[in-house]
Amino acid sequence: MSVAPAPVVILISGRGSNLKAIVDEVRAGRLPAEIRLVISNNPGAEGLRIAQAAGIRTRVIDHREFSERDEFDRALMEAIDQEQPKLVVLAGFMRILGDAFIRHYAGRLMNIHPSLLPAFKGLNTHSRALAAGVSEHGTSVHLVTSDLDGGPVIAQARVRVQPDDSPTTLSARVLEQEHRIYPLAIRWFIEKRLTLLDGQILLDGQRRPEQGFSTDNNTVCP
Ligand code: GAR
Repeated sequence: MSVAPAPVVILISGRGSNLKAIVDEVRAGRLPAEIRLVISNNPGAEGLRIAQAAGIRTRVIDHREFSERDEFDRALMEAIDQEQPKLVVLAGFMRILGDAFIRHYAGRLMNIHPSLLPAFKGLNTHSRALAAGVSEHGTSVHLVTSDLDGGPVIAQARVRVQPDDSPTTLSARVLEQEHRIYPLAIRWFIEKRLTLLDGQILLDGQRRPEQGFSTDNNTVCP
């Protein structure tokens, strides 16, 4: 499907590997997005360098310069709205956003989380998954609602947990899947293939198919 590139703003806090995966897909012509601005709350975020190297404008809005969270959120909103984005993408953005912010971007605020939601909301998902002894783990892209890590899921990818996995090895395999499904979910959004029905996301009017493992690559497509 060929659609006009949609203006997008991306928020990061650190490494920026998901940002890079999105930038790479845009540059390869597979994702019709125009990344107008990358904002980081952390001046030292490596992702800022990734954006700059790709010729994308960056801004730092350091949360430590605001005494109230609402003020920080308002500064973010002001910077984002100047770009008139169709979609705001949280790519490893590690600040909790307030209700007013989330309401303002309702239906156009996306996040990626390193677990098979609703399992393992919050932090340290890989070590918690290992401690819980689960046989599969993964990642979820979802729309953001005021329910932390609880908004409707757009795409998920699973990986099998191996007996000798550490949080490092497990997170590396999950991250590979993050880099695959986040650009895909953004593309679906821009192509207007997603709809929300009774709190669930439909793709092309259908519920996401049940997922099973393929034997060769240990993962499954959304
Ligand atoms: C990713 O694993 C992402 O899923 C996670 O932070 C990492 C950022 O990596 N996000 C969350 O935990 C949000 N709750 P990156 O900066 O290399 O994209």
